[in-house]
Amino acid sequence: MKVNVDGVELELPAGTSAIDAVFEAGGDVPYFCAHKYLSPVGACRMCLVESGSPRKEKDGSFVMDDATGQPKIFWFPKPMASCTMQATDGMHIKTARSSEVVAKAQAGMMEFTLLNHPLDCPTCDKGGACELQDRAFEYGYGASRFGFDRRHADKHYPLSDFVILDQERCIHCKRCVRYFEEVPGQEVLDFIERGGHTFIDTEEGGLPTGFQGNITDICPVGALLDNVARFRGRNWEYDHTPTTCTLCPVGCSITVDARNGRLERIVARENREVNEAWICDAGRFGHAFASERRLTVPLVRVNGELQETSWDGAIAAIRAGMAGRNAADLALYLNADSTLEEGVALEALADAMGTRHVDHWPRYEVALDAMPNGAATLSDVATADAVVVVGADLGEEAPILELRILEMLRGGLLPPEYTHGTAIADLRLVERPARDPQKLAVVGKESRLWGHAGIRASSNGHNALERLSQPDTAELQAALKLLTDSEKAIIVLGADVLNGASGSFAAQLSDLATRTGAKVMAIPAGANSKGLAALNLVPREGGLPYARVAEAPAAFISRLDPGVRARGLTIVHDSHLTATARLADVVLPAVTGYEKRGTTVNLEGRLLELEQAALSAGEAADLIRTLSAVSEALGLRAPVRGLKGARDLAAQRLGIKLGGLPERGVIHPLRTAHVAPTEQVYTPQLWTERMQPSIQTLIPANLQPLPMLGAAPVGGDD
Ligand code: SF4
Ligand code: SF4
Ligand code: FES
Repeated sequence: MKVNVDGVELELPAGTSAIDAVFEAGGDVPYFCAHKYLSPVGACRMCLVESGSPRKEKDGSFVMDDATGQPKIFWFPKPMASCTMQATDGMHIKTARSSEVVAKAQAGMMEFTLLNHPLDCPTCDKGGACELQDRAFEYGYGASRFGFDRRHADKHYPLSDFVILDQERCIHCKRCVRYFEEVPGQEVLDFIERGGHTFIDTEEGGLPTGFQGNITDICPVGALLDNVARFRGRNWEYDHTPTTCTLCPVGCSITVDARNGRLERIVARENREVNEAWICDAGRFGHAFASERRLTVPLVRVNGELQETSWDGAIAAIRAGMAGRNAADLALYLNADSTLEEGVALEALADAMGTRHVDHWPRYEVALDAMPNGAATLSDVATADAVVVVGADLGEEAPILELRILEMLRGGLLPPEYTHGTAIADLRLVERPARDPQKLAVVGKESRLWGHAGIRASSNGHNALERLSQPDTAELQAALKLLTDSEKAIIVLGADVLNGASGSFAAQLSDLATRTGAKVMAIPAGANSKGLAALNLVPREGGLPYARVAEAPAAFISRLDPGVRARGLTIVHDSHLTATARLADVVLPAVTGYEKRGTTVNLEGRLLELEQAALSAGEAADLIRTLSAVSEALGLRAPVRGLKGARDLAAQRLGIKLGGLPERGVIHPLRTAHVAPTEQVYTPQLWTERMQPSIQTLIPANLQPLPMLGAAPVGGDD
């Protein structure tokens, strides 16, 4: 269809909204309530445009304009909200660029929105990143005609431990309310009262933990603030580092905001293929540990006590500790959130040392990457017509996958892809979008997803899959029927079913997938388990798995905390003094996942890049540099000494070129190279002990007391 925007004619797909048409034409429309991943509501009235369409005669021909010889355009008498209007063939749209009426209407609307706004800009956390501030400059009158005392409402009003609401600043765009209804499917927030008294609040009990932090990203003003980050800095003071979250295998795109070397804030970064615009609460709020009580220098044990030393001192201590032993006696264990490059470096060193004791953790001991219908992507999940989740607690294992499944339940309409604008998938104004729970079956233990599933079957352990294949209850029969009857079905597998699964499990799954035509998404145990599984990072013949670290003659343990030490020399590489580090002979300071460059592979098999945020980590080093130091102590030349060397080796080993990946990552099917028994059950836990939040300790003493709970604000000002 052809649409004319400010005199520019363009070709657009049918169903495009008028606001998108403007952005596609390279124009601009101010908006507050519209949001790419939420349904349109037309609440803020900022996106006004003039619009007109040709009209047809009874015989189907166009009413013609005598002056131009073209179809006559019949204009709506008043400006219209473009976010709730569908562009139609032949439509003409005028924005403020070409219409004085629109410019005046928008300036008037801005004046109205600011009528009772507190104008906290000098103190508001959102200052410098506020849509209202920006649009007031661009589209407002520049001066206010109102000199009266503004309405006052609650400030610093906690909706939960994590989210603070400033009711005065709220412009009633309803994004936060719609988000809860439409994305996690929780009706917990709403408008209370009417007219000038309207405010946002929750039911008693506050916001549910899981995905609540996303409302702080989408609030267009500073009304909803991240309590872990607020008052920590202004937007322009932060170093913004786009990177990937390594807390779970989804690998959400995030931006790490650091100030003066401290990690102050994490916000979601859009990645349409992975996390869309959302991240989970652990990913957003669980970062304080990264700048708290860090190890910044190496430690060595002297007379039974750990004492600070230099890297040279630590290398000498390793050399002394390994005296009389072979390099082959040193076991090497790394966390499964380590990057591909780190894994490649560790494997190369293990080969050079000749050690059999190598492992990464957490992992499962079954390879599931050869399924007949291929591996499902997150977009496949969102657009599937049936999902059967077996043995997974997504809240702990892969939270954003839960949101993508909920997206599937409400129709799986992904927003169209535009370079600009507020692509909106569905222009029907629907409150509380209908969900179809019959498209979701959950087999396993009770979890948050149960509440959304139409078919629920209790079953524990890895025989859940066998029971699903040969159903012995009505629920399991219904789940199998759902898989069989659907054209785009997905089987999602989680920890409960993957723990202890062996080769016969893979065969069973493959058989089920063949029978039903379903794609498979097996949730890996660690953030980069899928990447590391493509390397030979499992015990070699006669080697000790990570579960038996206590039997190892000597061990190097990178960012794992088994709570025991090896029989002989124990070297721990970690960012914090964990229980294991306290038992170690040598502790080498490690960077966190926010401070290194490298590549991880998410649950879809998507390669995603990590970038290094500007955090003060003292002398902490990533695994590649640390392994160089260990090699030096062992008298070996490190086979890999830096990121480039690791990438070159990865290219040879895996046939992939790392570095310079597209922002959304790329899917690259990596096959599991080797499997071996783990001898240990993996229990997924998203909020690890070190991340446990304590809002009180997170807020520095000089900022307390905050007028949060109880204290009634006087006059409404800060
Ligand atoms: S939301 Fe904050 S920054 Fe924006 S105009 Fe209001 S007070 Fe100023
Ligand atoms: S709190 Fe923010 S997102 Fe929610 S309605 Fe108010 S301005 Fe909109
Ligand atoms: S009415 Fe708010 S963006 Fe259109």
